[in-house]
Amino acid sequence: MTPNPDRVLIFDTTLRDGEQSPGCSMTQPEKVRVARQLAELGVDVIEAGFPAASRGDWESVNAVAREVQGATICGLARCNREDIELAARALRDAPRHRIHVFLATSAIHRQYKLNMAQEEIIRTAVEGVRIARGLCDDVEFSPEDASRTELEFLAQVVEAAIEAGASTVNIPDTVGYTVPDEFAELFRYLRKNVRGIDGIRLSVHCHDDLGMAVANSLTAVVAGARQVECTINGIGERAGNCSLEEVVMALKTREAFFNVTTGIQTNRLYPTSRLVSSITGMPIPRNKAVVGENAFAHEAGIHQHGMLKHHSTYEILRPEDVGLSRSHLVLGKHSGRHAFRDRVKALGFELDELEFNRVFEEFKALADKKKELFDGDIEALVLRAEGSASGPWSLLDLQTVAHSNVPAQAVVRLQHADGRVVERTTEGDGPVDAAFKAIEAATGINVILRKFEVHGVTEGEDAQGEAVVYVEYNQRTYRGSSVSTNIVESSTKAFLEVINRIELSQAGTRSRDERAGAARVAQTAV
Ligand code: KIV
Ligand code: ZN
Repeated sequence: MTPNPDRVLIFDTTLRDGEQSPGCSMTQPEKVRVARQLAELGVDVIEAGFPAASRGDWESVNAVAREVQGATICGLARCNREDIELAARALRDAPRHRIHVFLATSAIHRQYKLNMAQEEIIRTAVEGVRIARGLCDDVEFSPEDASRTELEFLAQVVEAAIEAGASTVNIPDTVGYTVPDEFAELFRYLRKNVRGIDGIRLSVHCHDDLGMAVANSLTAVVAGARQVECTINGIGERAGNCSLEEVVMALKTREAFFNVTTGIQTNRLYPTSRLVSSITGMPIPRNKAVVGENAFAHEAGIHQHGMLKHHSTYEILRPEDVGLSRSHLVLGKHSGRHAFRDRVKALGFELDELEFNRVFEEFKALADKKKELFDGDIEALVLRAEGSASGPWSLLDLQTVAHSNVPAQAVVRLQHADGRVVERTTEGDGPVDAAFKAIEAATGINVILRKFEVHGVTEGEDAQGEAVVYVEYNQRTYRGSSVSTNIVESSTKAFLEVINRIELSQAGTRSRDERAGAARVAQTAV
Protein backbone atom coordinates (compact mmCIF):
# COMPACT_ATOMS: atom_id res chain seq x y z
CA MET A 1 0.00 0.00 0.00
CA THR A 2 1.29 3.53 -0.81
CA PRO A 3 1.75 5.62 2.34
CA ASN A 4 -0.31 8.81 2.68
CA PRO A 5 1.10 11.47 0.41
CA ASP A 6 3.16 14.17 2.13
CA ARG A 7 2.03 17.76 1.87
CA VAL A 8 4.29 20.10 -0.12
CA LEU A 9 3.88 23.74 0.87
CA ILE A 10 3.47 26.27 -1.91
CA PHE A 11 5.38 29.48 -1.17
CA ASP A 12 4.38 32.16 -3.63
CA THR A 13 6.88 34.95 -4.33
CA THR A 14 5.02 36.73 -7.16
CA LEU A 15 4.91 39.90 -5.08
CA ARG A 16 8.63 39.81 -4.27
CA ASP A 17 10.79 37.93 -6.79
CA GLY A 18 8.06 38.22 -9.44
CA GLU A 19 7.74 41.95 -8.99
CA GLN A 20 11.50 42.28 -9.46
CA SER A 21 11.15 41.47 -13.15
CA PRO A 22 11.48 44.56 -15.37
CA GLY A 23 8.20 46.38 -16.02
CA CYS A 24 6.27 44.20 -13.52
CA SER A 25 6.03 46.62 -10.64
CA MET A 26 2.66 46.81 -8.91
CA THR A 27 0.95 49.47 -6.83
CA GLN A 28 -0.05 48.75 -3.23
CA PRO A 29 -3.77 48.13 -4.01
CA GLU A 30 -2.70 45.83 -6.85
CA LYS A 31 -0.44 43.86 -4.50
CA VAL A 32 -3.24 43.48 -1.97
CA ARG A 33 -5.56 42.32 -4.71
CA VAL A 34 -3.07 39.71 -5.97
CA ALA A 35 -2.39 38.57 -2.38
CA ARG A 36 -6.13 38.06 -1.79
CA GLN A 37 -6.39 36.00 -4.95
CA LEU A 38 -3.33 33.95 -3.87
CA ALA A 39 -4.94 33.26 -0.50
CA GLU A 40 -8.13 32.11 -2.28
CA LEU A 41 -5.97 29.94 -4.52
CA GLY A 42 -4.73 28.18 -1.38
CA VAL A 43 -1.04 29.05 -1.31
CA ASP A 44 0.52 28.36 2.10
CA VAL A 45 2.94 31.29 2.21
CA ILE A 46 2.78 34.65 0.44
CA GLU A 47 6.10 36.47 0.23
CA ALA A 48 4.67 39.97 0.11
CA GLY A 49 7.89 41.88 -0.53
CA PHE A 50 11.21 43.14 0.75
CA PRO A 51 10.27 45.72 3.40
CA ALA A 52 13.73 47.34 3.59
CA ALA A 53 13.87 47.97 -0.16
CA SER A 54 11.80 51.17 0.00
CA ARG A 55 9.07 52.81 1.98
CA GLY A 56 6.56 51.74 -0.69
CA ASP A 57 7.66 48.11 -0.29
CA TRP A 58 7.35 48.33 3.48
CA GLU A 59 3.85 49.76 3.19
CA SER A 60 2.76 47.11 0.72
CA VAL A 61 3.99 44.27 2.93
CA ASN A 62 2.26 45.90 5.88
CA ALA A 63 -1.01 46.29 3.92
CA VAL A 64 -0.95 42.63 2.87
CA ALA A 65 -0.20 41.61 6.48
CA ARG A 66 -3.18 43.64 7.72
CA GLU A 67 -5.66 42.84 4.99
CA VAL A 68 -5.09 39.31 3.73
CA GLN A 69 -6.19 36.27 5.66
CA GLY A 70 -5.67 32.58 5.17
CA ALA A 71 -1.95 32.29 4.39
CA THR A 72 1.31 32.93 6.24
CA ILE A 73 2.60 36.34 5.17
CA CYS A 74 6.35 36.54 4.70
CA GLY A 75 8.84 39.39 4.25
CA LEU A 76 12.39 39.17 2.93
CA ALA A 77 15.36 40.65 4.81
CA ARG A 78 19.12 40.67 4.50
CA CYS A 79 21.07 39.39 7.51
CA ASN A 80 21.27 42.72 9.29
CA ARG A 81 19.31 44.06 12.24
CA GLU A 82 17.77 47.01 10.44
CA ASP A 83 16.32 44.92 7.60
CA ILE A 84 15.02 42.30 9.99
CA GLU A 85 13.39 44.78 12.35
CA LEU A 86 11.74 46.58 9.43
CA ALA A 87 10.37 43.23 8.21
CA ALA A 88 9.12 42.29 11.68
CA ARG A 89 7.31 45.61 12.04
CA ALA A 90 5.74 45.35 8.60
CA LEU A 91 4.50 41.82 9.29
CA ARG A 92 3.38 42.04 12.88
CA ASP A 93 -0.36 42.44 12.14
CA ALA A 94 -0.58 39.16 10.21
CA PRO A 95 -1.88 36.32 12.41
CA ARG A 96 0.74 34.02 10.86
CA HIS A 97 3.94 35.57 9.60
CA ARG A 98 7.45 34.61 8.65
CA ILE A 99 10.75 36.43 8.29
CA HIS A 100 12.89 35.18 5.42
CA VAL A 101 16.57 36.05 5.81
CA PHE A 102 19.12 35.45 3.10
CA LEU A 103 22.85 35.68 2.57
CA ALA A 104 24.89 34.64 -0.44
CA THR A 105 27.26 31.71 0.14
CA SER A 106 28.94 30.88 -3.19
CA ALA A 107 32.61 31.68 -3.78
CA ILE A 108 31.69 34.08 -6.60
CA HIS A 109 29.34 36.09 -4.38
CA ARG A 110 31.70 35.94 -1.38
CA GLN A 111 34.55 37.32 -3.42
CA TYR A 112 32.91 39.83 -5.76
CA LYS A 113 29.74 40.94 -4.00
CA LEU A 114 30.31 40.60 -0.30
CA ASN A 115 34.07 40.50 0.13
CA MET A 116 33.56 38.13 3.04
CA ALA A 117 35.40 34.97 4.11
CA GLN A 118 33.61 31.72 4.86
CA GLU A 119 33.72 32.19 8.65
CA GLU A 120 32.24 35.66 8.34
CA ILE A 121 29.41 34.30 6.20
CA ILE A 122 28.55 31.71 8.83
CA ARG A 123 28.72 34.30 11.61
CA THR A 124 26.50 36.76 9.74
CA ALA A 125 23.97 34.09 8.79
CA VAL A 126 23.72 32.88 12.38
CA GLU A 127 23.36 36.41 13.68
CA GLY A 128 20.62 37.14 11.11
CA VAL A 129 18.65 34.01 11.99
CA ARG A 130 19.01 34.71 15.74
CA ILE A 131 17.81 38.30 15.43
CA ALA A 132 14.85 37.12 13.34
CA ARG A 133 14.04 34.36 15.84
CA GLY A 134 13.99 36.94 18.59
CA LEU A 135 11.17 38.70 16.73
CA CYS A 136 9.27 35.85 15.07
CA ASP A 137 8.82 32.10 15.63
CA ASP A 138 8.74 31.27 11.95
CA VAL A 139 12.12 31.97 10.31
CA GLU A 140 13.34 30.88 6.89
CA PHE A 141 16.97 31.06 5.85
CA SER A 142 18.24 31.06 2.24
CA PRO A 143 21.89 30.63 1.26
CA GLU A 144 21.70 32.68 -1.95
CA ASP A 145 23.40 31.05 -4.95
CA ALA A 146 23.38 27.73 -3.05
CA SER A 147 23.61 25.67 -6.24
CA ARG A 148 27.04 27.21 -7.00
CA THR A 149 28.31 26.91 -3.43
CA GLU A 150 30.91 24.30 -2.38
CA LEU A 151 28.84 21.42 -0.97
CA GLU A 152 30.79 21.08 2.26
CA PHE A 153 30.58 24.78 3.02
CA LEU A 154 26.89 24.87 2.11
CA ALA A 155 26.27 22.05 4.59
CA GLN A 156 28.10 24.01 7.32
CA VAL A 157 26.06 27.16 6.70
CA VAL A 158 22.78 25.25 6.64
CA GLU A 159 23.64 23.40 9.85
CA ALA A 160 24.57 26.67 11.58
CA ALA A 161 21.32 28.32 10.43
CA ILE A 162 19.30 25.39 11.78
CA GLU A 163 21.11 25.53 15.11
CA ALA A 164 20.41 29.27 15.28
CA GLY A 165 16.66 28.61 14.93
CA ALA A 166 15.64 28.51 11.24
CA SER A 167 12.55 26.35 10.82
CA THR A 168 12.72 26.37 7.01
CA VAL A 169 15.90 26.23 4.95
CA ASN A 170 15.48 27.20 1.33
CA ILE A 171 17.96 26.14 -1.35
CA PRO A 172 17.99 28.66 -4.20
CA ASP A 173 19.29 28.07 -7.68
CA THR A 174 19.65 31.83 -7.91
CA VAL A 175 21.03 32.03 -11.44
CA GLY A 176 19.18 29.07 -12.94
CA TYR A 177 22.42 27.14 -13.42
CA THR A 178 21.77 23.69 -12.02
CA VAL A 179 20.35 20.62 -13.80
CA PRO A 180 17.94 18.06 -12.32
CA ASP A 181 20.37 15.20 -11.49
CA GLU A 182 22.95 17.51 -9.96
CA PHE A 183 20.31 19.36 -7.92
CA ALA A 184 18.79 16.14 -6.57
CA GLU A 185 22.30 15.11 -5.54
CA LEU A 186 22.73 18.41 -3.66
CA PHE A 187 19.53 17.80 -1.68
CA ARG A 188 20.53 14.22 -0.90
CA TYR A 189 23.97 15.43 0.25
CA LEU A 190 22.46 17.98 2.62
CA ARG A 191 19.99 15.46 4.03
CA LYS A 192 22.82 13.06 4.70
CA ASN A 193 25.40 15.50 6.06
CA VAL A 194 23.53 18.24 7.96
CA ARG A 195 22.71 17.67 11.60
CA GLY A 196 19.14 18.65 12.50
CA ILE A 197 17.92 18.71 8.91
CA ASP A 198 15.12 16.22 9.58
CA GLY A 199 13.57 18.62 12.10
CA ILE A 200 13.13 21.48 9.62
CA ARG A 201 11.35 22.01 6.32
CA LEU A 202 13.56 21.93 3.25
CA SER A 203 12.53 24.29 0.49
CA VAL A 204 13.51 24.85 -3.13
CA HIS A 205 13.69 28.11 -5.12
CA CYS A 206 14.60 27.92 -8.82
CA HIS A 207 15.17 30.43 -11.59
CA ASP A 208 14.52 29.66 -15.23
CA ASP A 209 17.64 30.89 -17.05
CA LEU A 210 18.10 27.56 -18.80
CA GLY A 211 14.39 26.69 -18.86
CA MET A 212 14.70 24.13 -16.07
CA ALA A 213 13.14 25.86 -13.06
CA VAL A 214 10.11 23.57 -12.92
CA ALA A 215 12.11 20.40 -13.61
CA ASN A 216 14.71 21.34 -10.99
CA SER A 217 12.00 22.09 -8.42
CA LEU A 218 10.27 18.77 -9.07
CA THR A 219 13.50 16.87 -8.75
CA ALA A 220 14.14 18.61 -5.42
CA VAL A 221 10.73 17.41 -4.23
CA VAL A 222 11.69 13.85 -5.18
CA ALA A 223 14.89 14.37 -3.16
CA GLY A 224 13.06 15.62 -0.07
CA ALA A 225 12.07 19.28 -0.48
CA ARG A 226 8.67 19.92 1.09
CA GLN A 227 8.22 23.55 0.11
CA VAL A 228 8.38 24.93 -3.43
CA GLU A 229 8.94 28.63 -4.04
CA CYS A 230 7.34 29.84 -7.24
CA THR A 231 5.48 32.67 -8.97
CA ILE A 232 2.29 32.96 -10.99
CA ASN A 233 3.09 32.68 -14.72
CA GLY A 234 6.73 32.15 -13.71
CA ILE A 235 7.42 35.89 -13.64
CA GLY A 236 10.63 36.95 -11.93
CA GLU A 237 14.21 38.16 -12.29
CA ARG A 238 15.65 37.68 -15.81
CA ALA A 239 14.04 34.55 -17.33
CA GLY A 240 11.76 34.23 -14.32
CA ASN A 241 11.09 31.82 -11.49
CA CYS A 242 9.56 28.36 -11.27
CA SER A 243 5.98 28.71 -12.49
CA LEU A 244 3.42 27.95 -9.78
CA GLU A 245 0.73 26.64 -12.11
CA GLU A 246 3.15 24.28 -13.86
CA VAL A 247 4.74 22.81 -10.76
CA VAL A 248 1.36 22.39 -9.04
CA MET A 249 -0.27 20.72 -12.04
CA ALA A 250 2.75 18.43 -12.49
CA LEU A 251 2.48 17.32 -8.86
CA LYS A 252 -1.27 16.82 -9.21
CA THR A 253 -1.33 15.12 -12.60
CA ARG A 254 1.51 12.78 -11.60
CA GLU A 255 0.50 12.33 -7.96
CA ALA A 256 1.08 8.59 -8.15
CA PHE A 257 4.69 9.26 -9.12
CA PHE A 258 5.52 12.07 -6.68
CA ASN A 259 3.29 10.84 -3.84
CA VAL A 260 2.77 14.37 -2.52
CA THR A 261 -0.17 16.79 -2.48
CA THR A 262 -0.55 20.56 -2.29
CA GLY A 263 -3.34 22.70 -0.86
CA ILE A 264 -3.92 24.53 -4.16
CA GLN A 265 -7.48 24.92 -5.48
CA THR A 266 -6.38 24.23 -9.02
CA ASN A 267 -9.61 25.54 -10.55
CA ARG A 268 -8.45 29.01 -9.50
CA LEU A 269 -5.18 28.82 -11.42
CA TYR A 270 -6.44 30.31 -14.67
CA PRO A 271 -8.18 33.37 -13.15
CA THR A 272 -5.15 34.01 -10.93
CA SER A 273 -2.86 33.79 -13.93
CA ARG A 274 -5.06 36.26 -15.86
CA LEU A 275 -5.18 38.65 -12.92
CA VAL A 276 -1.40 38.73 -12.56
CA SER A 277 -0.92 39.13 -16.29
CA SER A 278 -3.42 41.95 -16.45
CA ILE A 279 -1.91 43.80 -13.47
CA THR A 280 1.74 43.39 -14.43
CA GLY A 281 1.23 43.71 -18.17
CA MET A 282 3.31 40.58 -18.66
CA PRO A 283 1.48 38.66 -21.40
CA ILE A 284 0.94 34.90 -21.14
CA PRO A 285 2.51 33.19 -24.17
CA ARG A 286 -0.13 31.39 -26.24
CA ASN A 287 1.69 28.09 -25.88
CA LYS A 288 2.40 28.45 -22.15
CA ALA A 289 1.87 25.16 -20.31
CA VAL A 290 -1.32 24.96 -18.22
CA VAL A 291 -2.65 28.51 -18.73
CA GLY A 292 -1.70 29.48 -22.31
CA GLU A 293 -4.47 30.11 -24.84
CA ASN A 294 -3.40 27.06 -26.83
CA ALA A 295 -2.93 24.72 -23.86
CA PHE A 296 -6.25 23.01 -24.60
CA ALA A 297 -6.59 23.69 -28.33
CA HIS A 298 -6.33 20.77 -30.71
CA GLU A 299 -5.58 21.66 -34.30
CA ALA A 300 -4.34 18.53 -36.08
CA GLY A 301 -7.08 16.41 -37.65
CA ILE A 302 -5.78 13.21 -36.05
CA HIS A 303 -5.82 14.84 -32.64
CA GLN A 304 -9.32 16.22 -33.10
CA HIS A 305 -10.51 12.81 -34.19
CA GLY A 306 -8.94 11.22 -31.09
CA MET A 307 -10.43 13.86 -28.81
CA LEU A 308 -13.90 13.21 -30.21
CA LYS A 309 -13.51 9.52 -29.32
CA HIS A 310 -12.11 10.20 -25.87
CA HIS A 311 -10.48 13.32 -24.39
CA SER A 312 -7.78 11.25 -22.69
CA THR A 313 -6.25 10.41 -26.09
CA TYR A 314 -4.55 13.81 -26.30
CA GLU A 315 -5.37 15.59 -23.04
CA ILE A 316 -3.71 14.94 -19.69
CA LEU A 317 -5.35 17.93 -18.00
CA ARG A 318 -8.93 19.07 -18.35
CA PRO A 319 -9.56 22.79 -18.89
CA GLU A 320 -11.95 22.79 -15.92
CA ASP A 321 -9.17 21.42 -13.65
CA VAL A 322 -7.38 24.75 -14.00
CA GLY A 323 -10.50 26.92 -14.04
CA LEU A 324 -10.76 27.42 -17.76
CA SER A 325 -14.44 26.68 -18.15
CA ARG A 326 -15.45 28.91 -21.01
CA SER A 327 -19.20 29.01 -21.62
CA HIS A 328 -21.18 30.24 -24.58
CA LEU A 329 -23.58 31.89 -22.20
CA VAL A 330 -24.21 35.45 -23.20
CA LEU A 331 -25.28 38.16 -20.79
CA GLY A 332 -27.00 41.38 -21.77
CA LYS A 333 -28.73 44.42 -20.34
CA HIS A 334 -31.62 42.36 -19.00
CA SER A 335 -29.35 40.05 -17.00
CA GLY A 336 -29.75 40.56 -13.29
CA ARG A 337 -27.34 40.61 -10.36
CA HIS A 338 -27.76 36.87 -9.74
CA ALA A 339 -26.83 35.82 -13.25
CA PHE A 340 -23.89 38.22 -13.26
CA ARG A 341 -22.67 37.04 -9.84
CA ASP A 342 -22.90 33.39 -10.97
CA ARG A 343 -20.83 34.11 -14.08
CA VAL A 344 -18.17 36.00 -12.10
CA LYS A 345 -17.95 33.06 -9.70
CA ALA A 346 -17.82 30.51 -12.50
CA LEU A 347 -14.90 32.45 -13.97
CA GLY A 348 -13.09 31.94 -10.65
CA PHE A 349 -13.24 35.42 -9.13
CA GLU A 350 -14.25 36.24 -5.59
CA LEU A 351 -15.35 39.87 -5.16
CA ASP A 352 -16.37 41.57 -1.96
CA GLU A 353 -19.71 43.42 -1.95
CA LEU A 354 -18.16 46.81 -2.70
CA GLU A 355 -16.15 45.53 -5.65
CA PHE A 356 -19.10 43.51 -6.90
CA ASN A 357 -21.38 46.57 -6.88
CA ARG A 358 -18.86 48.63 -8.81
CA VAL A 359 -18.27 45.93 -11.40
CA PHE A 360 -22.02 45.36 -11.73
CA GLU A 361 -22.55 49.08 -12.41
CA GLU A 362 -19.85 48.94 -15.09
CA PHE A 363 -21.47 45.82 -16.51
CA LYS A 364 -24.82 47.63 -16.81
CA ALA A 365 -23.17 50.64 -18.48
CA LEU A 366 -21.38 48.37 -20.93
CA ALA A 367 -24.54 46.38 -21.66
CA ASP A 368 -26.18 49.63 -22.78
CA LYS A 369 -23.49 50.04 -25.44
CA LYS A 370 -22.92 46.42 -26.37
CA LYS A 371 -25.71 43.95 -27.12
CA GLU A 372 -24.05 40.73 -25.97
CA LEU A 373 -21.46 40.32 -23.26
CA PHE A 374 -19.18 37.27 -23.39
CA ASP A 375 -16.90 35.71 -20.79
CA GLY A 376 -13.99 37.80 -22.10
CA ASP A 377 -15.97 41.03 -21.48
CA ILE A 378 -16.86 40.01 -17.96
CA GLU A 379 -13.30 38.93 -17.21
CA ALA A 380 -12.04 42.31 -18.48
CA LEU A 381 -14.50 44.16 -16.21
CA VAL A 382 -13.48 42.14 -13.17
CA LEU A 383 -9.77 42.39 -13.88
CA ARG A 384 -10.11 46.14 -14.25
CA ALA A 385 -12.02 46.40 -10.97
CA GLU A 386 -9.05 47.70 -9.04
CA GLY A 387 -6.39 47.19 -11.63
CA SER A 388 -5.70 50.73 -12.64
CA ALA A 389 -3.46 53.01 -10.65
CA SER A 390 -6.14 55.15 -9.07
CA GLY A 391 -5.48 58.87 -9.09
CA PRO A 392 -4.17 61.44 -8.63
CA TRP A 393 -5.46 62.42 -12.10
CA SER A 394 -8.89 61.47 -13.40
CA LEU A 395 -10.42 62.15 -16.79
CA LEU A 396 -13.44 64.48 -16.65
CA ASP A 397 -13.91 64.92 -20.35
CA LEU A 398 -12.37 64.01 -23.69
CA GLN A 399 -13.28 65.41 -27.10
CA THR A 400 -11.48 64.62 -30.32
CA VAL A 401 -11.93 65.81 -33.89
CA ALA A 402 -10.22 64.08 -36.80
CA HIS A 403 -10.44 64.75 -40.57
CA SER A 404 -8.21 63.34 -43.25
CA ASN A 405 -5.32 65.57 -44.37
CA VAL A 406 -5.42 67.93 -41.38
CA PRO A 407 -4.02 67.40 -37.87
CA ALA A 408 -6.47 65.92 -35.37
CA GLN A 409 -7.44 67.91 -32.33
CA ALA A 410 -8.07 66.76 -28.77
CA VAL A 411 -9.46 68.57 -25.75
CA VAL A 412 -8.94 66.87 -22.38
CA ARG A 413 -10.20 68.05 -19.02
CA LEU A 414 -8.50 66.44 -16.04
CA GLN A 415 -9.02 66.70 -12.33
CA HIS A 416 -6.20 66.27 -9.82
CA ALA A 417 -6.79 64.82 -6.33
CA ASP A 418 -5.70 68.20 -4.90
CA GLY A 419 -8.78 69.78 -6.53
CA ARG A 420 -7.17 71.39 -9.61
CA VAL A 421 -9.08 71.10 -12.88
CA VAL A 422 -6.90 71.51 -15.98
CA GLU A 423 -8.05 71.68 -19.59
CA ARG A 424 -5.74 71.53 -22.60
CA THR A 425 -6.30 71.49 -26.35
CA THR A 426 -3.60 70.11 -28.63
CA GLU A 427 -3.11 68.85 -32.14
CA GLY A 428 -1.59 65.57 -33.14
CA ASP A 429 -1.12 62.96 -35.80
CA GLY A 430 -4.53 61.34 -35.27
CA PRO A 431 -6.90 61.60 -32.30
CA VAL A 432 -4.90 59.26 -30.03
CA ASP A 433 -1.65 61.18 -30.52
CA ALA A 434 -3.50 64.46 -29.93
CA ALA A 435 -5.06 63.13 -26.71
CA PHE A 436 -1.69 61.89 -25.39
CA LYS A 437 -0.14 65.30 -26.08
CA ALA A 438 -3.02 67.06 -24.35
CA ILE A 439 -2.50 64.90 -21.25
CA GLU A 440 1.22 65.66 -21.24
CA ALA A 441 0.47 69.38 -21.53
CA ALA A 442 -2.10 69.23 -18.73
CA THR A 443 0.00 67.23 -16.27
CA GLY A 444 3.45 68.58 -17.16
CA ILE A 445 4.82 65.03 -17.46
CA ASN A 446 6.51 64.34 -20.81
CA VAL A 447 7.30 60.73 -21.62
CA ILE A 448 8.82 58.70 -24.43
CA LEU A 449 6.19 56.41 -25.93
CA ARG A 450 7.80 52.99 -26.40
CA LYS A 451 4.89 50.77 -27.33
CA PHE A 452 1.19 51.16 -27.97
CA GLU A 453 -1.16 48.25 -28.70
CA VAL A 454 -4.89 47.82 -29.08
CA HIS A 455 -6.60 44.46 -29.30
CA GLY A 456 -10.17 43.18 -29.09
CA VAL A 457 -11.14 41.56 -25.79
CA THR A 458 -13.76 39.43 -27.55
CA GLU A 459 -14.93 38.86 -31.09
CA GLY A 460 -17.50 40.87 -33.00
CA GLU A 461 -17.94 44.37 -34.38
CA ASP A 462 -18.88 45.89 -31.05
CA ALA A 463 -16.05 44.14 -29.17
CA GLN A 464 -14.30 46.10 -26.45
CA GLY A 465 -10.77 47.23 -27.27
CA GLU A 466 -8.02 46.92 -24.69
CA ALA A 467 -5.34 49.58 -25.11
CA VAL A 468 -1.91 49.02 -23.58
CA VAL A 469 0.67 51.80 -23.42
CA TYR A 470 4.35 51.46 -22.46
CA VAL A 471 6.41 54.59 -21.89
CA GLU A 472 9.85 55.48 -20.64
CA TYR A 473 10.30 58.16 -18.04
CA ASN A 474 13.52 58.86 -16.11
CA GLN A 475 15.00 55.58 -17.42
CA ARG A 476 12.14 53.49 -16.05
CA THR A 477 9.39 51.74 -17.95
CA TYR A 478 5.77 52.36 -17.02
CA ARG A 479 2.71 50.62 -18.34
CA GLY A 480 -0.96 51.46 -18.40
CA SER A 481 -4.00 49.76 -19.87
CA SER A 482 -7.71 50.34 -20.22
CA VAL A 483 -10.72 48.74 -21.87
CA SER A 484 -13.61 50.41 -23.67
CA THR A 485 -15.84 49.97 -26.69
CA ASN A 486 -14.30 53.26 -27.89
CA ILE A 487 -10.60 52.76 -28.59
CA VAL A 488 -9.70 56.47 -28.44
CA GLU A 489 -11.15 56.52 -24.94
CA SER A 490 -9.38 53.31 -23.84
CA SER A 491 -6.08 54.62 -25.27
CA THR A 492 -6.46 57.96 -23.49
CA LYS A 493 -7.28 56.27 -20.17
CA ALA A 494 -4.36 53.85 -20.57
CA PHE A 495 -2.05 56.84 -21.11
CA LEU A 496 -3.50 58.61 -18.08
CA GLU A 497 -2.87 55.49 -16.00
CA VAL A 498 0.79 55.68 -17.00
CA ILE A 499 0.93 59.32 -15.88
CA ASN A 500 -0.71 58.35 -12.56
CA ARG A 501 1.83 55.58 -12.02
CA ILE A 502 4.65 58.04 -12.65
CA GLU A 503 3.24 60.58 -10.19
CA LEU A 504 2.62 57.90 -7.55
CA SER A 505 6.11 56.47 -7.91
CA GLN A 506 7.64 59.96 -7.72
CA ALA A 507 5.74 60.60 -4.49
CA GLY A 508 7.10 57.26 -3.18
CA THR A 509 10.65 58.19 -4.15
CA ARG A 510 10.34 61.57 -2.44
CA SER A 511 9.13 60.08 0.83
CA ARG A 512 11.83 57.42 0.64
CA ASP A 513 14.50 60.12 0.23
CA GLU A 514 13.05 62.16 3.09
CA ARG A 515 13.03 59.11 5.33
CA ALA A 516 16.57 58.19 4.40
CA GLY A 517 17.74 61.76 5.00
CA ALA A 518 16.02 62.04 8.36
CA ALA A 519 17.15 58.71 9.69
CA ARG A 520 20.62 58.83 8.12
CA VAL A 521 20.42 55.12 7.88
CA ALA A 522 23.46 53.43 6.44
CA GLN A 523 22.32 50.20 4.83
CA THR A 524 24.93 47.51 5.26
CA ALA A 525 26.12 45.89 2.08
CA VAL A 526 25.19 42.38 3.19
O1 KIV B 1 17.01 33.70 -6.14
C1 KIV B 1 17.33 33.84 -4.95
O2 KIV B 1 18.38 33.42 -4.50
C2 KIV B 1 16.40 34.57 -4.10
C3 KIV B 1 16.67 34.50 -2.64
C4 KIV B 1 16.50 35.81 -1.96
C5 KIV B 1 15.83 33.42 -2.03
O3 KIV B 1 15.43 35.11 -4.55
ZN1 ZN C 1 14.98 34.30 -6.57
